[in-house]
Amino acid sequence: MRFDITVLPGDGVGPEVITAGVAVLKVVAKRSGHEFNLHYDLVGGTAIDEFGVALAPQTLKLCNGSDAVLLGAVGGPKWDNPEARVRPEDGLLALRKELGLFANLRPVKVLPVLADSTTLKPQIIKDVDLMFVRELTGGVYFGRPKRQWRTNRGRRAIDSMAYSEQEIERIVRVGFELARRRRGKLTSVDKANVLESSRLWRKVVTEVAEEYPDVELDHMLVDACAMRLIRQPIYFDTIVTENMFGDILTDEASMLAGSMGMLASASLSGIPQSGEQTFGMYEPIHGSVPRRAGQNLVNPIATILSCGMMLRYSFTLEKEAEMIEKSISKVLEQGYRTYDIMEQGKTQVGTREMCELIIKNLADDASGTGVVKDG
Ligand code: IPM
Ligand code: MG
Repeated sequence: MRFDITVLPGDGVGPEVITAGVAVLKVVAKRSGHEFNLHYDLVGGTAIDEFGVALAPQTLKLCNGSDAVLLGAVGGPKWDNPEARVRPEDGLLALRKELGLFANLRPVKVLPVLADSTTLKPQIIKDVDLMFVRELTGGVYFGRPKRQWRTNRGRRAIDSMAYSEQEIERIVRVGFELARRRRGKLTSVDKANVLESSRLWRKVVTEVAEEYPDVELDHMLVDACAMRLIRQPIYFDTIVTENMFGDILTDEASMLAGSMGMLASASLSGIPQSGEQTFGMYEPIHGSVPRRAGQNLVNPIATILSCGMMLRYSFTLEKEAEMIEKSISKVLEQGYRTYDIMEQGKTQVGTREMCELIIKNLADDASGTGVVKDG
């Protein structure tokens, strides 16, 4: 099969981790006989420098015409002026909104081999395997009004957390569908004791739940969830929540897995059904980490795992996705670590070396006829 991938390396460490992800995709193509056509473009700060906007119309068009988008990271001190008219993050938010990527999947799986490299006690994080389903195109990120203004009693600002029942229903369905295919447990996270949007959220969740009698559902307040994630993360299977709660909770949850450098994400435009291709954008959950850029230092695993999610959800290449995951586990078992997950007695390697090791494991029994066209 032939797939078109728009590749947006972005800013900071983005290009380095994307180089690693693309290298892995090339090996997968070769092994599996599929054809990946790569189309490179700019987003974020680099796009501001080149086009004056964080996401140019032609870039959006390129994404729209592709089967999937691979994105590195955006942002950096160069564009960090609060007075700036455009910000790199606008490019990311526009991509999500314009491509209709309402369902953000962020799996958090603790690999046994990394059990000692987190700040939490190994017995707390043992066997943690949870899936966040974060709503990505609504809520306070996009609600109107949203502005700053001056009054005669000083400056004021407003953001609005808004949700329609349709927006809630479609993301909640993603939660139920994934929970059904996992361990059958869904936790819906809200702040229904305070927020109207959360009270609607909870009503809609309860209504949709009637169609999923096989899924065990519970509602949890976001503050309690933040606590439970640290106290007893094993409690969770699938978690569905609104945009900003999901943003905050997934950074917190990434620490269970040892590092932000381990966490991948998929942002999908539909409910993933097994055997069906869903359009999506794939990116590591970490940012552009400008202070680490260009040093061959950062962990490429989050991006490589994101490529795995692309194979799974957008191309339905489940076997190939698992191959990547297995290869990563093997390299970690062999004792190789990037700086962010380094422990005593292990071998520290850089971005490129980590990628090469993962490829070596993948390629050990490589044979095939696929091609990658760089465009
Ligand atoms: C994320 C990031 C983004 C978000 C930023 C870069 C706009 O933190 O993907 O989690 O807040 O959604
Ligand atoms: Mg975030």
